[in-house]
Amino acid sequence: MNQDQLKRAVAAAAIDEIRPLLASDSVIGVGTGSTANHFIDLLADLRHDFRGAVASSQATAERLKGHGIDVFELNHVGTVPVYVDGADEINPRLEMIKGGGAALTREKVVAACAERFVCIADASKRVEVLGGFPLPIEVIPMARSYVARELVKRGITPAYREGVITDNGNQILDCYDLLIEEPRRIEAELNNIVGVVTNGLFAARCADVLLLGGEHGVERIT
Ligand code: 5RP
Repeated sequence: MNQDQLKRAVAAAAIDEIRPLLASDSVIGVGTGSTANHFIDLLADLRHDFRGAVASSQATAERLKGHGIDVFELNHVGTVPVYVDGADEINPRLEMIKGGGAALTREKVVAACAERFVCIADASKRVEVLGGFPLPIEVIPMARSYVARELVKRGITPAYREGVITDNGNQILDCYDLLIEEPRRIEAELNNIVGVVTNGLFAARCADVLLLGGEHGVERIT
């Protein structure tokens, strides 16, 4: 199977994973990216079995609506029973780097409100140590240079993701060549820099379940 077929396979496994959690009044959280898009497309068949979804990005909201799935504001929903999303990297403790699609802040907010986080990923995303994938940091625009200088002071090499404006009107700095052995500590430390909205480490709130697609099928890891 190629990478896209693996993404489709884990999306299908996620449908089986969440099916028992669906009820006529349930609103679920839905992530962003190409793997999440497969999940949304498969979710369309179940649209009469649940109330709707909270989207982690405008792109996801549009795709959900395109399939006739109602999209709700998180403020009107409170908690969601489950959040399904992809990842750019995931380690054995199910800590992740996310935000390759620049949706990290909304993804992190929806994940924080989720009773269960189901990560769907093809095998290329599995790593022992996070940091090979550039770690995104969302910054408010006026703070971009300041945050970049603060990162350099900490030995981190940031690059401005030019031309990208997040759904929140902010900008992204990508941090290259990291070896993140203590994701929780680094997540908190980076979030503490003034002007940072959030960073793409999902360690304080990691995944609860990983559905990992590889050559031998989909493995369920908890
Ligand atoms: C978007 C994300 C995505 O989950 C991550 O980039 C994985 O994307 P894909 O499923 O396309 O490989 O965090 O901000």
